[in-house]
Amino acid sequence: MPDPSAPRWPLEPESQELRRLIDACAGFVVDQIDSLPSQPSWDVEGAEPVAASFVEPPPERGRAIEAVLERLRPAVAKSFNTAGPGYLAFIPGGGIPAAALADFVACAVNRFVGVAAAAPALARIEAQVIAWLASLMGYPPGAGGILTTGGSLSNLTALVAARADRLPEDFLKGTIYMSEETHLSVLKAARIAGFPEACIRLVPVDARRRLRPALLETMIEEDRAKGQRPFLVVANAGTTNTGAIDPLAEVFDLARRHGLWAHADAAYGGFFRLVPEGEARLRGIEAYDSITLDPHKGLFLPYGTGCLLVRDPAALRRAHGGQAGYLQDVSSGDGAPNFTDLSPELSRDFRGLRLWLPIQLHGLQAFRLQIQEKLDLAHRAYVELKDEPLLEMLDAPQLSIVAFAARPDHRGPELLRRVNARRRVFLSSTTMGGRYVLRLCVLSFRTHADRVRDAVAAIKEEARRLPDRP
Ligand SMILES: Cc1ncc(COP(=O)(O)O)c(C=O)c1O
Repeated sequence: MPDPSAPRWPLEPESQELRRLIDACAGFVVDQIDSLPSQPSWDVEGAEPVAASFVEPPPERGRAIEAVLERLRPAVAKSFNTAGPGYLAFIPGGGIPAAALADFVACAVNRFVGVAAAAPALARIEAQVIAWLASLMGYPPGAGGILTTGGSLSNLTALVAARADRLPEDFLKGTIYMSEETHLSVLKAARIAGFPEACIRLVPVDARRRLRPALLETMIEEDRAKGQRPFLVVANAGTTNTGAIDPLAEVFDLARRHGLWAHADAAYGGFFRLVPEGEARLRGIEAYDSITLDPHKGLFLPYGTGCLLVRDPAALRRAHGGQAGYLQDVSSGDGAPNFTDLSPELSRDFRGLRLWLPIQLHGLQAFRLQIQEKLDLAHRAYVELKDEPLLEMLDAPQLSIVAFAARPDHRGPELLRRVNARRRVFLSSTTMGGRYVLRLCVLSFRTHADRVRDAVAAIKEEARRLPDRP
């Protein structure tokens, strides 16, 4: 029986009902955020039945918002707590609440920013945000770029731009160079863009995991002698494993001399340039043809916020632009660029607001303070761990990752298991040169000195408690 009191068009709630729905969601969010410090750093035991409870046909009739949110609660709880202060695994960021508010507003106003004519001022906001990021990286006015969903898509977009800029249509002799430590997304991008494995060269790294420029040059020369067309080098401005920074200026000079497009993958490391210490370590990045940034890492935004910067936006346009009769009413004018000309996407979310609103609300200073704090916390953790004889530090942190092995190596997995079993912090591991390595990455805006102290204490205590042999 239809409910006679139900609204006829529930997809458009009346304003009072809309406010009630918003209030219910606001309550859910505030509870979530308030309880973060006391939540476990991870909790996926028993997640399977929770996941299975969502396997169902779509309901024909709607349910109360309270009931819907209640169902979400255990789904959120049974996960790695990527938003919490104890998340020191992989590459954190946290997800500042102001960005969630921006998404809420952006989705509710639902304007179309893919072409500037459809929302000139909103497209300008997004272009301005990109201009801010470009200037923070030391790019000159006139540089541009595109907001993406993350570093992987930024690296792909850069690779396609470089291919269009430097290679003929028949590009299979094109050769790409990157260090052994480069993120998997670059290898994936090469494959997606149509380059077989034979087009990819992994350059060996030095003891601090930085690309060795002399070897890069030899490889380029040998490839050219064999008839290959070297066209792109990807330098790391902070590797995922240890935060290693390739010799950016040297790699760039070499790229210039050999006519290669120089791309910097600064997905993890780029925003450290907002503080003088980071700027000094990343010197040279400002010369690169393109830079991948991940605001969902170093600017603490929620997942789904990436950026590709290019010195010359025309290169992006050459690779991605096009015309269609049904777009003739909205083709480019004098204002902001048409973002659809710079990326594979046409319709998409209004990503610019996610950066613009938090920067307006908090100012850059709030971000700079946090970024410096992350460098300091990682350094502190390194200093406190390096005197522990049961651990071997791989390197002093070049940014905010502390990488270390257990002594002997084979105790590493058990050490990680025990530290994480305390649920106060959550670390992750990697394999480097066949070695099992633990990583502590300080990048969440919610991680402060108390939690890093807990992490250090847990690592030392558990290392001492480990049996000699597993
Ligand atoms: C150096 C580096 N490049 C690229 C990526 C891929 O970025 P995303 O996960 O945003 O696609 C990551 C992710 O951790 C990274 O650390």
